[in-house]
Amino acid sequence: MNRYDFSFFDQPVDRRGTDCDKWDVLKAREGRELLPMWVADMDFRAAEEISEAVLHRAQHPVYGYTEQPASAVDAMLAFYKRRHGIALNKDQQALLPCVVSGLRQAVCTLTAPGDKVLIQTPVYGPFFDSIRQNGREVVENPLVRDADGRYAMNLNGMEKAFRAGVKLAILCNPHNPAAHAWTREELAAVYALCIRYGVMLAADEIHQDFVYKPGSFISALSLDESEDANIVVFTSAGKTFNLAGLQQGVLLTRNRKLRSELIASLRSAGVVGGNIFALTATEAAYRSGDEWLDGLLAYLDAARALVKRELAQRLPEAVMSPQEATYLAWIDLRAYGYTTEELMERTHRQGVAFTPGTFFGSKQGEGFLRLNFGCPHSQTSDALRRLEKAVKS
Ligand SMILES: Cc1ncc(COP(=O)(O)O)c(C=O)c1O
Repeated sequence: MNRYDFSFFDQPVDRRGTDCDKWDVLKAREGRELLPMWVADMDFRAAEEISEAVLHRAQHPVYGYTEQPASAVDAMLAFYKRRHGIALNKDQQALLPCVVSGLRQAVCTLTAPGDKVLIQTPVYGPFFDSIRQNGREVVENPLVRDADGRYAMNLNGMEKAFRAGVKLAILCNPHNPAAHAWTREELAAVYALCIRYGVMLAADEIHQDFVYKPGSFISALSLDESEDANIVVFTSAGKTFNLAGLQQGVLLTRNRKLRSELIASLRSAGVVGGNIFALTATEAAYRSGDEWLDGLLAYLDAARALVKRELAQRLPEAVMSPQEATYLAWIDLRAYGYTTEELMERTHRQGVAFTPGTFFGSKQGEGFLRLNFGCPHSQTSDALRRLEKAVKS
């Protein structure tokens, strides 16, 4: 019996008054409260094992400079081996403040100003900024979408772009917002092109633990286990265990040269260590969070079925991409004839906030919304009721 059963996740948590982005910052920005189905964190309490570890550490009243203990790295490596079958050693990882900071450092370290960096849109908005704000050129290779909302890579487009001089490809694996878990064949095809054209591969694998059965997560690290593979992965316990506000991530690579270059670049940017509470929480999560995570995955699996069912009843013309991964549903509402901006206005009027599709690419996201179902099922149903009214009224 898992004590983190549906009743644990069904119980609403009042996050108001904690300065959280999802509820409080949105309310301050909009001037009134909206049901928040946007930013990718979850309205669930963290595992008790994590809260207890943080409280225990907080009771010691000295919070001086602190290093990541070897036990924390061991707990993380054991988690990867246990849950994903990936074997790495302590010299194949490095601590980060968060995933996006790692991606930004990768762009700065692995490319020169003006270089081309490939992304596949629609994709997580900060990928664009990580490239552009560092003076590099975004090369968009849009994903190809079928009538059922399933996305695939355009390998011909990718090859053309690589031939035209792309230096780095950033992959979102599994993909946010398309909710697709890339298969081994798809990833192997990308990597074969990377080898042929000498392109570095950086994979953001922050959604790795949210792949629903019968699918499975395939890490980019499993494509080539040699020590000169030009592959680096950025990930974190932040999404998996709902710890995003603590801010900690990790880079994983078997390539020693790549790792030392990235570490040197992080140091030169002033990133030298973690913070006490993130280190404590992350270690507890990796060591003792499995029961909570298994309970969460069962709950989210039921939530994705709920979204699909209710959306089909309420808005039969909407197309939800097959939810193979993530707790973020990607919904195509173009059949109803509204722009994303109009959809945002209409949904706000009904008291609910989604992420605008255009956050993931101005063209590929037009007419789409992303719905975060990492919350009690009752909240998700309420949001879908409001979405129906927004579209039909
Ligand atoms: C694909 C992806 N990468 C990175 C992040 C953010 O990670 P972090 O807070 O560790 O920078 C998110 C958050 O939504 C995400 O969806």
